[in-house]
Amino acid sequence: MNETFLKACRGEAVDYTPVWIMRQAGRYLPQYQKVRAKVDFLTLCKTPELAAEVTLQPIEILGVDAAILFSDILIPVEAMGMDLEFSESKGPVLHNPVRDEAGVRTLRPVVPEQDVPFVMDTVRLLRQRLQVPLIGFSGAPFTLATYMIEGGSSRNFLHTKRMMFQAPDLFASLMEKITENVVSYLDAQIRAGAQAVQVFDSWVGVLSPRDFEYVALPWVKKIVASFKGRVPVIYFAFNGGAMLNRVKEAGADVYGLDWRIDMADAVRQLGPDTVVQGNLDPCLLFGPRDEIRSRAAEVLKGGRTARAHIFNLGHGILPETPVENAIALVESVHELSGGKRLQHG
Ligand code: CP3
Repeated sequence: MNETFLKACRGEAVDYTPVWIMRQAGRYLPQYQKVRAKVDFLTLCKTPELAAEVTLQPIEILGVDAAILFSDILIPVEAMGMDLEFSESKGPVLHNPVRDEAGVRTLRPVVPEQDVPFVMDTVRLLRQRLQVPLIGFSGAPFTLATYMIEGGSSRNFLHTKRMMFQAPDLFASLMEKITENVVSYLDAQIRAGAQAVQVFDSWVGVLSPRDFEYVALPWVKKIVASFKGRVPVIYFAFNGGAMLNRVKEAGADVYGLDWRIDMADAVRQLGPDTVVQGNLDPCLLFGPRDEIRSRAAEVLKGGRTARAHIFNLGHGILPETPVENAIALVESVHELSGGKRLQHG
């Protein structure tokens, strides 16, 4: 078992900087496209044998140091009673958005092994087959709330902010329900074998620092505290660079960073004892190859100011990305950070 990723999560010394890529199982891989041509996205998420197969693809192809469970942050939201569709053109759509007290009241508590057994079955299958650690994940409460209230993706989050500002108690009761479900959902993944978990807060960057602090952060703290000492928790507050002084209060083991902040600046704000993950701009993967390498070197340099660094992109890899460049990135990170022997290519 390659433990480099887990060691870095714990802030321990490593021989080279571990790397994985957000959305590493996905449409840029022809092997993923082949599986996806046979089934729709939700069926893929709900069929353990197929979900495990696509989770494993980037481990082989890229040589990354961790696997991330193939699923989606909206899977437990569907289990709460929401009508979920993945539309090819619009992305995720929830046909019964939560906009009032009745909407919040009808949300069901998720019993993971009963309601989403395929997630834990996928985790168990993967643990039998993997030689690198497996990361489980969940959306963070605010990010999940935006999808549930807006009914999908959004431009200015009007419905979400209207509930936040005009009906704060209702919004808090929604956040509380979501938080309870996130805790039981992550707990089930860990019991099935997930060795670390990442909490994705993809939309928290639309909040003012003050609103983040009072409306979103307390629930993240609660989630992180629930798993303290069990497995490493990575908190990824996308677009949160302007409020790292608050983000760091989450108490996470690892903080994910996007490319809008310089790695060394982020470490200065988070403190030298912090473990960081990130943060190359995904668009750099379009090349040229020597630019990818020199930019990776810059990120690694910033990462060395932290207690430990896990290399990643600053957000998910784009579907149009040339696979050879993703392979080259992983090789560059390994070579530049410690000279890991090439396992492929
Ligand atoms: O990272 C991985 O490889 C693991 C799998 C994973 C997916 N989604 C697969 C996916 C993970 C960890 C996610 C998390 C997720 N899902 C987030 C948080 C991360 C982020 O991007 O900020 C969010 C916001 C979602 C919701 C979601 N799922 C959207 C908005 C979309 C549509 C946009 C898009 O990229 O197509 C999805 C679909 C989705 N999730 C795909 C994959 C591989 C593409 C579906 C397809 O195959 O057609």
